[in-house]
Amino acid sequence: MAKKSYRIGVDLGTANILVYITGSGVVYNEPSVVAFDNTTKECIAVGKRAFDMVGKEHKHIRIVKPLDGGVIADLDATKVYLQKVFEKLENINVDLKNSTLLLCCPSQVTHIERVALIDLAKKIGVKDAFIEEELKAGAIGAGLDIYESKGSMVVDIGGGTTDVGVLSLGDLVVSESCKVAGNYLDKEITKYVKFKYGIIIGASTAEMIKIKLGTLASELQEEKECVFAGRNLTNGLPCKMTIKQSEVREIFLKGFEVVVNTIKKVLQQTPPELASDIYQSEIMINGGGAMIDGVKEYLEEALSLKVKIAENPLTSIVEGTRLLLNNRGNYLVKPSDY
Ligand SMILES: Nc1ncnc2c1ncn2[C@@H]1O[C@H](COP(=O)(O)OP(=O)(O)OP(=O)(O)O)[C@@H](O)[C@H]1O
Ligand SMILES: [Mg+2]
Repeated sequence: MAKKSYRIGVDLGTANILVYITGSGVVYNEPSVVAFDNTTKECIAVGKRAFDMVGKEHKHIRIVKPLDGGVIADLDATKVYLQKVFEKLENINVDLKNSTLLLCCPSQVTHIERVALIDLAKKIGVKDAFIEEELKAGAIGAGLDIYESKGSMVVDIGGGTTDVGVLSLGDLVVSESCKVAGNYLDKEITKYVKFKYGIIIGASTAEMIKIKLGTLASELQEEKECVFAGRNLTNGLPCKMTIKQSEVREIFLKGFEVVVNTIKKVLQQTPPELASDIYQSEIMINGGGAMIDGVKEYLEEALSLKVKIAENPLTSIVEGTRLLLNNRGNYLVKPSDY
């Protein structure tokens, strides 16, 4: 069968990488993890298979997270990861050389990093590549009309960063970012469990506790609990313990003070006409953190503004690439099938 050229959108996330192809939808959605053989230096797994190895690997395996804290931490690993994903695409007859690729990256990514990403796309075999801010793609994917002369605010609570931006007339007007996001909360849970219970837990266990008990609710209806296992710091042996939701809630409330301050900082820099628009509309929440229990009510209370959780917060960005690929990100041209 002859190969076909496509328009391809990629959400390069710290926690998850997603790929969209025109006509087929989201064709790839897996964790941002690569596993290498330490001796041969060859890639042995990417995505879910590599994620399952995290914390369980032996000396012959090296696990790498290509993105960290919203930036590309390891360009080689990012290249290997995308190469593996695109090999899969070629198997389904995607002609990469003649396809258009849109890579979504955090708004704080520097010019040099953008050039490196375009370079990377070329190395993978895609000649026609361009970059867009993920906040913009996420806002479109969540259903906001960013091409209007009207201000809208979007907050993306991801794995590595929480990104906050105000958009109008097709582009970002103000944006800020902070490190309080999924990974930060996992690390705070790990620290808490170590000091409170003297137990060392792995990253997957911390994430499991976060997802099961994480909440920003002002009151807890019932005290939920979660049993977890780890290694006892005193005798080095495996053990189990129970953690309460109220303990996890304290960690969340402390972390989210930073998120609220970041949103306030963006609001303070927002021109008054756009601030007035935001006051009359809703702040859109994207990213995995949008699924935290009570986040909508918590932010509404903290900001005295209306908040809306995106319908599909984990896929908004990659869904938004569908439209941005139609106008090649030109802010003057509203994509035709908006
Ligand atoms: N129900 C949930 N409650 C709390 N956190 C969750 C939930 N579901 C997913 N997460 C967290 O959301 C994060 C992943 O979100 P997302 O896929 O938006 O991140 P990302 O786009 O890869 O990261 P970034 O945008 O920072 O580069 C992970 O830290 C994950 O643990
Ligand atoms: Mg993201």
